[in-house]
Amino acid sequence: MFNLEMAPPDPILGLTETFRADPNPDKINLGVGVYKDDNGNTPIMRAVKLAEKKLLSSEQTKSYLSIPGHGQLPHLTQPLLFGADSELVGSDRTVTAQAPGGTGALRVAGDFIAKATPTASVWLSNPTWANHKAIFEATGLQTKVYNYYDAQNQSLDKQAFLESLQAIPAGDVVILHGCCHNPSGVDPDLDTWNTVGSIAAAKGWLALFDFAYQGFGTGLEEDRAGMNKVLEHGIPAFICSSYSKNFGLYNERIGAITFVGENAEETRRVFSHIKVAIRSNYSNPPSHGGSIVTEILQDPVLTKTWEDELTIMRNRILSMRTGLTDGLAARGVDIDYSFIKRQIGMFSFAGINPDQVDMLRNKHHVYAVHSGRINVAGITSSQMDRLCDALADVLKTK
Ligand code: LMR
Repeated sequence: MFNLEMAPPDPILGLTETFRADPNPDKINLGVGVYKDDNGNTPIMRAVKLAEKKLLSSEQTKSYLSIPGHGQLPHLTQPLLFGADSELVGSDRTVTAQAPGGTGALRVAGDFIAKATPTASVWLSNPTWANHKAIFEATGLQTKVYNYYDAQNQSLDKQAFLESLQAIPAGDVVILHGCCHNPSGVDPDLDTWNTVGSIAAAKGWLALFDFAYQGFGTGLEEDRAGMNKVLEHGIPAFICSSYSKNFGLYNERIGAITFVGENAEETRRVFSHIKVAIRSNYSNPPSHGGSIVTEILQDPVLTKTWEDELTIMRNRILSMRTGLTDGLAARGVDIDYSFIKRQIGMFSFAGINPDQVDMLRNKHHVYAVHSGRINVAGITSSQMDRLCDALADVLKTK
């Protein structure tokens, strides 16, 4: 009945399948963005375990949640996104619904946009997370790219970025990475974010923040600062946020979709359609992840435990960045890798081309995304020497 070609494997999750099938005991997976501790495990955070313990005795029902999910989650998510003192928190311009992960939030936003403004184009940074294009095109929207990364200098191409944003027409949608740009690890500075906000206000395009790594860059507050600079311009925006990484709740599929409207009336109408998009997608969200986040964020002691653990995770990522930069320098590679230390979050480009990515996998059993992206948060101290040797080896083939 279905005369279709095989679909290609997913560029990120498909790599995990190939990795699992590799019998080499020293293999290293730097593909998918999953945090590992220095023993190579992705542990359940202590705050999460404590919250689950509480839930085990207090949970009374497995009945459906409402369409937007747990009632308390918006009141706990908004201060995290905007800061407790922000006028957006609890404002009648702001609504939040629970979503099954950041991906689920993006898809709901895409469905809403495809219904409300079907001719809008969705603009993605060049480069961006491999799934962005698939998500928005699956809703029927057209995607386009704006300039972002300067591969030569491993930094933001600020001029090209801002010029691209200036040229985007009113009514189109611009996907911005709120922090820890995936895949480059390069974020705009606050001045540049401020300019992004002025351009959005002047041109009338819609900002949609993919905000999946809060706390993995510089700190919870610092990581939201750029996004909030943009929002200070009073523009409407979507924020698709994720609790996968900063709470380590990957397989619970927990995130949120937040909309900030120009006024309360617009927000009310948009929210009614967000609920329709959720209902026709997955009816209402699964409960467990939202219960955990709610338990933690409404309890100051658990919140502190979580923040302390997150700080440890962030510092480990920073030390892996330093280790990689220093390890490659010590091997005399002819590229200056100090950019790895300057970049933030889980990801960076390793400065290798697709042939070198293949060689890294086939010869050294080190798995990176074909674009050359590596998950720095997946490196451990005991793997560092082997990884630097492997990278130095493939770099010789340039
Ligand atoms: C990644 O970019 O590796 C993560 O966001 C996980 C995913 O779903 O792709």
